[in-house]
Amino acid sequence: MSETRIENVMSAQFVLIALAFIGLQACSKEDTGTETIVKDEAQPATAIQAAADGPELTVDADSFTCLSEMTAVRHFFVDNLLGDLDETVAIAESTDGGVYPPGSVVQLVPTEVMVKHGSGYNAATRDWEFFELDVSVEGSSIRNRGFVDVINKFGGNCFGCHIKAEAKYDLICELDHGCDPIPVTREMIAGIQSADPRCNL
Ligand code: HEC
Repeated sequence: MSETRIENVMSAQFVLIALAFIGLQACSKEDTGTETIVKDEAQPATAIQAAADGPELTVDADSFTCLSEMTAVRHFFVDNLLGDLDETVAIAESTDGGVYPPGSVVQLVPTEVMVKHGSGYNAATRDWEFFELDVSVEGSSIRNRGFVDVINKFGGNCFGCHIKAEAKYDLICELDHGCDPIPVTREMIAGIQSADPRCNL
């Protein structure tokens, strides 16, 4: 293990501890225990799918990959599960926002993902589905997925934070789009990104 790698792992651990602390505070307010993982069972995928326009998008654990195999845009990573990577990258690179095309995958850290479904799939989340993954050298598995009610393991509601982004940014937070901040610096994020265990496959 190189020194850089050890530093990365250490900073990743630090961040997890910091996030766990914030999560505990959130729990005491809303009584959402870390085990309370809300699945989107109320809305069967087939029912939502019927309302969607455009090509059908099936997302499973195999849809996700090591961050370094995705396309890096500044400090985050994108992909497109329907082959429209150029449009996804164009929106990600725009400093003035824009609507991500269906199939877009956006990741900042290995375990949290946003995937864009077809137009009309879920109006509340502007067609974004939120995922929390477990990642290991074996690959990805889906711990939790859904729309307005996905709670990450630190007690934070993905949608609750991301909907605060100015409308033109299509729920993408970055640092200055209007979302509540996360207590993780870009430097720590870079450490977590380069410690993605799936990249050792
Ligand atoms: C406390 C608010 C908060 C919660 C809860 C939260 N996020 Fe974020 N998220 C942010 C902020 C702020 C950023 C931007 C950080 C940066 O750019 O340094 C971000 C970045 C991201 C990004 C990169 C694109 C972007 O928006 O900048 C993705 C993808 C993402 N989060 C997914 C998720 C998922 C999935 C969940 C739930 C499992 C989640 N987030 C929970 C605030 C939050």
